[in-house]
Amino acid sequence: MPIVVVAKPPQEYAAWVEEQKALAAASGAAPVRVAAVTHAAAVSDDPNKKWTLDELKAAGAKLYSANCAPCHQPTGKGMPPSFPALDGSKIANGPKGAQIALVLAGKQGTAMASFARLSDTELAAVITYTRNAWGNRAGEVLPADVKSARQ
Ligand code: HEC
Repeated sequence: MPIVVVAKPPQEYAAWVEEQKALAAASGAAPVRVAAVTHAAAVSDDPNKKWTLDELKAAGAKLYSANCAPCHQPTGKGMPPSFPALDGSKIANGPKGAQIALVLAGKQGTAMASFARLSDTELAAVITYTRNAWGNRAGEVLPADVKSARQ
């Protein structure tokens, strides 16, 4: 059975599904089966968007559950000594540059992997979440901060 993978933004995806169904109906072919695989944590990468701390934090909460909570736990308490707590962490409450650098590069020789594959906006969101969740109140990190840290 041939399998075709098509990736589209959500708005285009719905229209594409309808189009495929209509094409199949018109040709008398068996109905297409479409599996929607959504990138649960996808956030808009519009460079002109002015993010507020609350918006970044809300988007970051989902990314945190998907990418970070397995080790650092939903409570941010981690599982010391293997996985450090982010709640109260010096890094998550410290200068944003050091925290961005760590999440971008990971830490060699430990389970803390590089998350450079996330977009600038996704990284800004998840880092902002960890800086402002639980007892942390360290302010936001913007997509532009991540962008410049990559260079
Ligand atoms: C597979 C487990 C694992 C996952 C998933 C993970 N981390 Fe980590 N993280 C670690 C480990 C282990 C360390 C400690 C590294 C060291 O020894 O310095 C760490 C350290 C950190 C620190 C520094 C904490 C401190 O005070 O020392 C931050 C911040 C951090 N991680 C953020 C994140 C974020 C954000 C994500 C998700 C995007 C994430 N981590 C996903 C295992 C993980």
